[in-house]
Amino acid sequence: METGIRVLTTADAAAFRSLRIEALRRHPEAFGASAEDAERIDAAGFAAGMPKQAPDAIFGAFAGDALVGMAGFFAHRPAKVRHKGAIWGVYVQAAARGQGIAGRLMQRAIAQARSAGLERLLLTVTVGNAAAQALYGRLGFLPYGIEQAALRLPDGRRIDEELRALDLRG
Ligand SMILES: CC(C)(COP(=O)(O)OP(=O)(O)OC[C@H]1O[C@@H](n2cnc3c(N)ncnc32)[C@H](O)[C@@H]1OP(=O)(O)O)[C@@H](O)C(=O)NCCC(=O)NCCS
Repeated sequence: METGIRVLTTADAAAFRSLRIEALRRHPEAFGASAEDAERIDAAGFAAGMPKQAPDAIFGAFAGDALVGMAGFFAHRPAKVRHKGAIWGVYVQAAARGQGIAGRLMQRAIAQARSAGLERLLLTVTVGNAAAQALYGRLGFLPYGIEQAALRLPDGRRIDEELRALDLRG
């Protein structure tokens, strides 16, 4: 089935909530947020927390009516950091992986950042998350550091995160 990509609106809040909780539940080592916290927020709460102002956006990948993937993007606002933005919450359901969906979601977010005039697009990725590191590397995000023990999971595991940036100038 053809997968279409569009910006999520508050009308998608229930689907967004369910995909986000699935991502956090299945991949606790890949995200800073926790499934337990997300589960306490209802669909209206998710709607309230969705980006309100351009260029911030959550891009969703739809197979028919079903939301199967997402990538979030926001731009910083204060004067001295507004040349920068960040990617968050990149997730594609297991059954839909390996078809380039995350790549397409990321391309949309990168295009959004570029047309907003940003110079740098930042993200973090768990050290050892080979699929995500390959994806970001292919898109030109270069590592500039490692934050050790960036996350501490409920089971006590410490997770190191790689910091990556894409230079949007030129
Ligand atoms: C990372 C993720 C978003 C990729 O989604 P996807 O739609 O399958 O990604 P794409 O199909 O666009 O591209 C995946 C790339 O990773 C590669 N890849 C997949 N599994 C891999 C592995 N285990 N090791 C190395 N590379 C791998 C693919 O070959 C592909 O690269 P290519 O196009 O050069 O062949 C998805 O695996 C996912 O949701 N994982 C769990 C959550 C997560 O880790 N999110 C990222 C948080 S930073």
